[in-house]
Amino acid sequence: MSKIELPKLNYGYDALEPYIDARTMEIHHTKHHQAYVDKLNGVLEKYPELVGRPIEEILTGLADLKVEEIDRIAIKNHGGGHMNHSLFWEYLDPTGSEDELLCKEIITSFGSIDEFKKQFTDSASKLFGSGWTWLVREGKTSKLVIKNMLMQDSPLMAGDQPLLGLDVWEHAYYLNYQNKRPDYIQAWWKVLKLLG
Ligand SMILES: [Fe+2]
Repeated sequence: MSKIELPKLNYGYDALEPYIDARTMEIHHTKHHQAYVDKLNGVLEKYPELVGRPIEEILTGLADLKVEEIDRIAIKNHGGGHMNHSLFWEYLDPTGSEDELLCKEIITSFGSIDEFKKQFTDSASKLFGSGWTWLVREGKTSKLVIKNMLMQDSPLMAGDQPLLGLDVWEHAYYLNYQNKRPDYIQAWWKVLKLLG
């Protein structure tokens, strides 16, 4: 039975400079994400039947897990944190390329990539406190929708499929951007390869 491990990045911490600085990347990955992984493993140890199960599956079925309520909350927070950050590092991969299929769907749903970026930026700018802005394929409708999720809640918990997510917790940008979240969001668009 294997514990959950911190995923390795395909790129160096300095690969997104100057938009996302190396120190922020390193702390974000080795401290924040590592802490979610460690705390998640700590909870899962109490439930051997959950150890080794994919985190996607655990989060999708979170409401039905046979666990104590306090542990369900811990799995939501730390499991969500692990899932969200794992995706985030992939979205940021500077060696990645444009996802043509995703771009086509976005254009169909929002009119244009620019219009999508505008709406996504607006949503991320308005998120109060700590959380994430997501583009999801909504479970109920199969439509592409922008959603803000608080704390580390994963779209999977709401039955939605995450397609693109932006971490707007202050730990993601404060060292370099302090309170200027809009500048961080603009920098994030610059490093993102998925939308061309
Ligand atoms: Fe984060």
